[in-house]
Amino acid sequence: MNTLIAPSILAADFAAMGEAVKTLQKNGADMIHCDVMDGTFVPTITFGMHMISAIRPYTDLPLDVHLMCIHPQNKVADFVNAGADIITVHAEACGNTLTDVLRYIRSYGIRCGVAVSPDTPLQNIYESLEWCDMLLVMSVYPGRGGQKLIERTLSKATEARRYFERNGLVKDIEMDGGITEENVAMVKDAGVNVIVAGSTVFRAADMAATIRTLRERV
Ligand code: DX5
Ligand code: ZN
Repeated sequence: MNTLIAPSILAADFAAMGEAVKTLQKNGADMIHCDVMDGTFVPTITFGMHMISAIRPYTDLPLDVHLMCIHPQNKVADFVNAGADIITVHAEACGNTLTDVLRYIRSYGIRCGVAVSPDTPLQNIYESLEWCDMLLVMSVYPGRGGQKLIERTLSKATEARRYFERNGLVKDIEMDGGITEENVAMVKDAGVNVIVAGSTVFRAADMAATIRTLRERV
């Protein structure tokens, strides 16, 4: 699987988001991870579709939209129109409609992902996984950046990679939360190929060097 580095703009300067995504592209990012929080699924509110359409002209990298929202299906059309390339919904927010939501996202001709919070077991969602392009294993509780990676979530990525291999499924596995230059090798060894990093990339003294290091270590 291709390794992709997807910096999260949650850690960027919100007053200069266009420039931030331009800088990420110039410095070697592969995707832009956009954390949409609705204040209900998680306590914080970040931004919505207007931020996606605002940054769209500043980069041709794929926009990887992570919806931390209830009723995500109601928001799909808006985010597609805003320019999302991949929309990831939380399994916890979809319940038994997860497969339908994934098929609905795909009906717009874009990719879809399923996110699982640290306490959500994969067994709950096995049947839906064939309908997604990417599984997002949260390595922190969703809601804010700058937290420490919860190591027990790594085994979920390994379990997913084995499940995909056993069933002949080719899917990206993304991990999100607390990834640093120090722990990224361990994340990769767990079976992850899409690395989200917010604070690590935006707090770096040399962003290009940090993105390069993240890539080299996976
Ligand atoms: C947490 C978000 C993450 C977060 C990652 O709810 O989904 O994408 O911004 O930030 P760091 O890399 O700082 O943990
Ligand atoms: Zn995220």
